[in-house]
Amino acid sequence: LSVIDFDLTKVAEGQQVVVKWQGKPVFVRYRTPAEIQAARETPMSALKDPQSDADRVKEGREQYLVLVGSCTHLGCVPTFGTGDYGGWFCPCHGSHYDTSGRIRKGPAPTNLVVPNYEYVSDTAVRIG
Ligand code: FES
Repeated sequence: LSVIDFDLTKVAEGQQVVVKWQGKPVFVRYRTPAEIQAARETPMSALKDPQSDADRVKEGREQYLVLVGSCTHLGCVPTFGTGDYGGWFCPCHGSHYDTSGRIRKGPAPTNLVVPNYEYVSDTAVRIG
């Protein structure tokens, strides 16, 4: 399917659910206030691929992060909630992503990709 709907009630605060989309894993993460704050307070100068957290989520839905779950180095699936920045850690060659999915340390050149998505109701997100 080129488009899938995901029920946001299936992901608890502080957790992520992995959805399959076009053969790829997509992470839907429900961030805690502390995780959002950490992402928002990071200065652009600390980022290898500078992008504000606000540009990676939808306004008013800052708690949800939707990302293609594929390391931008060589495509391994990063591990949730680990690494030096509390986002994801890619065990293949040691890339650390923050709570906005931005690359902070290691060989990956760019941030985890935000796919096209939209909210179709209060509890549903359409990916694709
Ligand atoms: Fe993730 Fe190499 S594939 S660090």
